[in-house]
Amino acid sequence: MSIPSHIAIIMDGNGRWAEKRGLERIEGHRIGAEVADAVSQWCADSGIKYVTLYAFSTENWKRPRHEVNYLFELMLMYITSQLERMLKEEVRMRFMGRLNELPEKLLDFTRYIEEKTRNCSKLNVIVALNYGGRAELLDAVTSLIRKGRSEITESDISSCLYIPDLPEPDLIIRTSGERRLSNFLLWQCSYSEFFFTDTLWPDFSKKEFLSILEDYSKRKRRFGAVDI
Ligand code: IPE
Ligand code: IPE
Ligand code: MG
Repeated sequence: MSIPSHIAIIMDGNGRWAEKRGLERIEGHRIGAEVADAVSQWCADSGIKYVTLYAFSTENWKRPRHEVNYLFELMLMYITSQLERMLKEEVRMRFMGRLNELPEKLLDFTRYIEEKTRNCSKLNVIVALNYGGRAELLDAVTSLIRKGRSEITESDISSCLYIPDLPEPDLIIRTSGERRLSNFLLWQCSYSEFFFTDTLWPDFSKKEFLSILEDYSKRKRRFGAVDI
């Protein structure tokens, strides 16, 4: 079975999951964080090397202040509680996005986690945090302009993305029934496979994850060429 090297996930539907149960939206985020953690274990078990999780977009600041604060607190608490396990299981965690715009405590925390896990190499978990595909492209082009460049190539842009050594995603999964990218990995998705499921993120299961991998393995990726 062909296994994707890099899976990127738009973890959507936490709010609706909670609302359906008469709970506060933040309850959905709390369960969603547990699923995110489980997914990284399923990826490691399946031999996937990179998983990128869309945790907070540059547009998510439009949400009520208390929801934004809760999401940040949750990240601090959850990742801290998983740190020991990540080190034991050789998980490297990196963050991508406009990290400088985050509250200082969270910014310091992202640096701390990156430093702590930098020598781990079994699985790479990338958390897209205050991430926007357009912001990433603007930041890349701005840094090229600052270097005095007047002509650029595709590989110049790729090398100025937030994590230049991150391979492009083979597969992008979005839960919750929405069929859009919501500003995720706009440059990197040019030849990604997509999988959309109606399942809300807190209900996403290992069984469904494995069935998506099976679906992926049957796809023919041609990258614009023809089959010989
Ligand atoms: C995804 O769930 C989590 C984040 C965007 C942080 P949502 O909070 O978007 O859940 P819905 O889409 O409102 O159900
Ligand atoms: C995308 O979900 C962002 C994350 C999952 C972090 P949203 O819920 O913010 O996307 P829209 O608003 O439905 O497009
Ligand atoms: Mg949503």
